Amino acid sequence: MAEPKVPHPWRDEIESVLIPAPALRKRVKELAREIQRDFAQKDLVIVALLNGTVLFLADLVRAIQLPMRLDFIGVSSYGSGTISSELVFTKELRIDVNGRDVLLVDDILDTGRTFQAALGKLAALKPASIKACVLLDKPARRIAKVEADYVGFEIPDLFVVGYGLDYAERFRNLPFVGALKPHVYAATKKPPEKLRRRVRT
Ligand code: IMP
Ligand code: MG
Repeated sequence: MAEPKVPHPWRDEIESVLIPAPALRKRVKELAREIQRDFAQKDLVIVALLNGTVLFLADLVRAIQLPMRLDFIGVSSYGSGTISSELVFTKELRIDVNGRDVLLVDDILDTGRTFQAALGKLAALKPASIKACVLLDKPARRIAKVEADYVGFEIPDLFVVGYGLDYAERFRNLPFVGALKPHVYAATKKPPEKLRRRVRT
């Protein structure tokens, strides 16, 4: 089958459609079924990291037919744009997760530093169990020793946007996951990773 075309408004900035909307819909339903099976008799609390999870999360939770609670953690990474940039929590959890079964949800697992920090924070709150779910996994770039229990798609080392994921706060509303054209971030004289690390959302 031919690759779907990048819709007109984004053709100048998006190289290709990596994961089209129907494939996202299908895979999110599969993930929801797995989660539903595994958490059937549990006291489920979904904890999502802001802001990149919003589209994925909205589709995922609607497809999980189980009683659950939902809360959010905000994380940003500030610093000079170097690898050692520091993570800052911008929104704290409100729900008590002590003794409950937590499912941490993020948009993409890249170096794994964000996930590691969030998992550490959650573990300190003594839940009964913690599992992790990501829409996308870029294993090639992993630094921290973390893995997700539920992975939507494993992707190559590309900077991707859409379906919640941003580049400098743009492109979150794309209904598909697409690869950014290099000239978009070349114009900023910084690769996406460095720009992203100043404020991680
Ligand atoms: P990590 O701490 O390096 O695993 O980074 C995870 C966070 O970086 C994700 O939640 C995203 O916000 C962001 N990120 C990593 N790779 C990409 C990408 O390809 N596109 C958009 N955001 C990304
Ligand atoms: Mg994000």
